[in-house]
Amino acid sequence: MSGDARTAAEGLRYLSGFGDEHSSEAVPGALPEGRNAPQRAPLGLYAEQLSGTAFTEPRAHNRRSWLYRIRPSAAHPAFTRTENGAIRTGPFTEVTPDPNRLRWNPLPAPPEGTDFLAGLWTLGGNGDATQRTGMAVHLYHADRSMRRVFSDADGELLIVPERGGLLLRTEFGLLRAEPGEVALIPRGVRFRVELLDGSARGYVCENYGAPFRLPDLGPIGANGLANARDFRAPVAAYEDVDGAAGPVEVVNKFCGNLWTADYDHSPLDVVAWHGNHVPYVYDLRRFNVIGTVSYDHPDPSIFTVLTSPSDTPGLAGVDFVVFAPRWLVGEDTFRPPYFHRNVMSEYMGLIEGAYDAKAEGFVPGGGSLHNMMSAHGPDRETFDRASAAELRPQRIDDGLAFMFETRWPLTLTPHAAGAGHLQERYDDVWHGLERHFRSV
Ligand SMILES: [Fe+2]
Repeated sequence: MSGDARTAAEGLRYLSGFGDEHSSEAVPGALPEGRNAPQRAPLGLYAEQLSGTAFTEPRAHNRRSWLYRIRPSAAHPAFTRTENGAIRTGPFTEVTPDPNRLRWNPLPAPPEGTDFLAGLWTLGGNGDATQRTGMAVHLYHADRSMRRVFSDADGELLIVPERGGLLLRTEFGLLRAEPGEVALIPRGVRFRVELLDGSARGYVCENYGAPFRLPDLGPIGANGLANARDFRAPVAAYEDVDGAAGPVEVVNKFCGNLWTADYDHSPLDVVAWHGNHVPYVYDLRRFNVIGTVSYDHPDPSIFTVLTSPSDTPGLAGVDFVVFAPRWLVGEDTFRPPYFHRNVMSEYMGLIEGAYDAKAEGFVPGGGSLHNMMSAHGPDRETFDRASAAELRPQRIDDGLAFMFETRWPLTLTPHAAGAGHLQERYDDVWHGLERHFRSV
């Protein structure tokens, strides 16, 4: 399967832009002209709308797409419950919320034959999927390509590969996501994850709230941070798998549980589509990093790639933030991230290299959680080094870290709270910060 996936992943073409009205057809003439639902859609296809926002949400934030497919999505047998594995969904009520700083090593290797869906392991989250508010943090570790198809009615999935490339076969076409890139699967979109390198590991933010959008730029101006043109959507590609090829298992996550049905055809049968509720990939190395050219460290909101707004202006349900390669030039400035306590809750992961506030223990594939108002910042070694460093222009280019920052505390799942890879003495990194105070 990985050979087939790699062949399919080579030379993929994409559509450029974020939130745009894209259109694509795998067969010329498959898209109707001048209307969405003609009496008979071209080529004998079925027309179907997929809504990612309410019909009546403001035009600037409205998300929907029209799909022209071999069978309508409605043509399916009843779903029945199946095992949730290590997937959990908000509300998270099994573990007492923990104010301690917590850090994990990478997820251990899964049993042989684990696909992306079986390899999903929920660390924790907040909110309530049935209320379409809040989020969950998942990790994944897989060693087999999916043969089944998955869709998540509970939220959109922001996939952050850390090890091993992915080929995402979606209703809208094919996306390739390598470590250093992120992929977004919108709510309800069906997809299959195939592995390009035999195994794969990474992180997933499941966002129950409003779809991720680009943050406003305010005084930054019309350009900067993640530029819209660097987001890539797929071109239409379809599977024409019917009857004789055997059933296709389709798994649907709905209100926290997995449901399964065996289809007599592949639901990845969309021949043409148009709209703005689409999957996409983004290369984090394209992020236009903005920082000080005088003094002091800007708040890390300056590193926001995508934001899911809440109903309170400026308060995100969840932000996706990247700490990308950049120059540090601040004068008379403590340059690593400062000590702080934050009303927001921060889950951090590391895609490669090292993070400039932690000298040790924070490793690629691992993660840390600094919940609401928990005090954190540079470890002792980093503080001592940065306080004494000569302040020449300094290039930070040996790491790619990210953060899921959310408005509510994250509550752990029982398996994350009791995990063997939960580090026991994370607090020690702040031990020995010496008293330097002199009153005269
Ligand atoms: Fe922080």
